[in-house]
Amino acid sequence: MIRSSIAERQEIRFFRSLWIAAPGAAAAWWALLVLRGVLPVGVSLAFGGLIGAVSRGSPGAATVLFGASFMASLVAFPFLQLASANLGSRMSAHLYDRLTTLCTQPEGVGHLERPELADDLTLARDFDLGLTGPPLAISMDFIAGGLVELVTGVSAAIVLAWFHWWAPLVLLAAWGSTHWLLRESGVWKDRNTGEVRSAQRHADYAYRLAVDAAPAKEIRFFGLSTWVIDRFVSTRRRLYDLQYEATHLRERSVLGCLVIVAAANALVFWVLGRDALAGALGPGEVAVFAQAALGVGSIAFGGLSWALDGAAAPVAALARLEAASATAGALPPGKGVAAAAAAPHIRFQAVEFGYPAGEGVAPRSVLRGIDLVIPAGSSLAIVGQNGAGKTTLAKLLCRLYDPTAGAISVDGVPLTDLDVEAWRRQIAAVFQDFIRFELSLRANVAPLGAPDDVIRAALTEAGADAIAGGDLDVVLSKGYANGTDLSGGQWQRVALARALCAVRQGARVVLLDEPTAQLDVRGESEIFERVLDATRDCTTILVSHRFSTVRQADRICVVEDGVVVELGSHDELIALGGRYRTMFELQASRFTELDDAGEEVVHESL
Ligand SMILES: Nc1ncnc2c1ncn2[C@@H]1O[C@H](COP(=O)(O)OP(=O)(O)O)[C@@H](O)[C@H]1O
Ligand SMILES: [Mg+2]
Repeated sequence: MIRSSIAERQEIRFFRSLWIAAPGAAAAWWALLVLRGVLPVGVSLAFGGLIGAVSRGSPGAATVLFGASFMASLVAFPFLQLASANLGSRMSAHLYDRLTTLCTQPEGVGHLERPELADDLTLARDFDLGLTGPPLAISMDFIAGGLVELVTGVSAAIVLAWFHWWAPLVLLAAWGSTHWLLRESGVWKDRNTGEVRSAQRHADYAYRLAVDAAPAKEIRFFGLSTWVIDRFVSTRRRLYDLQYEATHLRERSVLGCLVIVAAANALVFWVLGRDALAGALGPGEVAVFAQAALGVGSIAFGGLSWALDGAAAPVAALARLEAASATAGALPPGKGVAAAAAAPHIRFQAVEFGYPAGEGVAPRSVLRGIDLVIPAGSSLAIVGQNGAGKTTLAKLLCRLYDPTAGAISVDGVPLTDLDVEAWRRQIAAVFQDFIRFELSLRANVAPLGAPDDVIRAALTEAGADAIAGGDLDVVLSKGYANGTDLSGGQWQRVALARALCAVRQGARVVLLDEPTAQLDVRGESEIFERVLDATRDCTTILVSHRFSTVRQADRICVVEDGVVVELGSHDELIALGGRYRTMFELQASRFTELDDAGEEVVHESL
């Protein structure tokens, strides 16, 4: 029980992780810090030897020994600093590796969206930025310094045992108790509470708002610079306040510590003086024991716990994240493989879903019994207001989450029975927040590679062949020598080309979640026509607000508040005279009104 609780301590985890991160560097670090801790005691022993030798009239060898040990203790210092910086960098690389693994490895994405994991994710992501504590390469030096003092104190205590067995025990107990007193009264040990983590998250967010390029436009546009600065200052102050409160408490215990330490030292030095006067000790011994008695004081390592707490925090956060992501991001494995040759028949059966809302909070239901059949090779358009659940439906089909009730089946096989990766390889999807790789146009269209002619054909289908002058090697980011940035609409065409390229490489389900919202009306319906053409052998699902596009689909479903309220072809739904018709007529009347005002305006507005 006690052993397991010690093993669970975050400091112990931290030291264990050092070994795992870089065994060689850790061994060198430990060896150097033990050497550096022992050497001061060695120097004082040599000094005692020198005094004895001088009083005997033959100081030669003792002088050399004293000088050599003194030089060694000086030389060990920069080596230990180097070893600390090296080990710290390797440790942060190791922690970043673990973080990227735990983020990307689970089949699902739930672990990245859980509210209760958000603070740990921030801590594990930003610990080395130096926002609220030194980066590991620097704090390892503090930690080494604290451990060196500990080793020095213990070696001094061992030397002092030659004087009287009880003397080191008295001093160790006194200094040890001060450490305990100071620590328990809070040497910023509260870095790791939920309150600190959340204060840190807010401070980091304000910082990002202030320094990142993406929010810069709106911050200027809305005149928010003062607000951002105030927010950053106040959230940082909150952090400092927490730190101050935790450190401030400590001052109260300092007086008590001083009394205990003074009493213990008075006792030891009194006995030392008495023995010296009685002639029981020579001058060399008195010098050695006096220095050893002072040396024991090194174990009052207040700074160690401060640095160690900060450095161990990301290790603890990672351990929590690793444990949680295994379940939060997990999907029960399926073994079957959907037939890749043909477009599948997809069925949603009473599908219900709600995003996890945090520990102990019931999820708010987003999909409330979706029943939907998408025949093999047909196209289905989904329309509905913002927040109706359209994107969620698409995410479930990609199996980023599993439904909380009901089932999705592909050619009659439940999605949960299929191998996730094999299923996803059959889907070509473009989400609203699709990825924009800071890579070449070629890699953006075919991240896993494809022949150039396939890439070019996909770009042409997406109306993107003119982008970057058709040069597939141009990097799609301004931050590179031959880089270029694209407009929102151009990016959407590239994302569409990526999906069309996947279709050419065997994907049989096409999922487009408002992929063309940033294109003009004519551009969108033209592209969708071409996409439908190119994906005739696929089962296609399209989410769009544009009825000129939507009406081209074989069937259309209207989703409202997590249920399908209408389903049919454009003509059927118009004849039905329900929600679809109302929405269609609303958009058509806006179109006509604007049409009177001039064609250009029409194309921009719809
Ligand atoms: N990752 C998420 N975590 C929690 N709630 C979410 C998440 N994504 C979407 N939601 C909520 O689910 C509902 C449906 O969202 P979504 O499917 O994106 O709507 P739509 O695509 O129809 O606009 C919304 O109320 C939204 O707030
Ligand atoms: Mg959406």
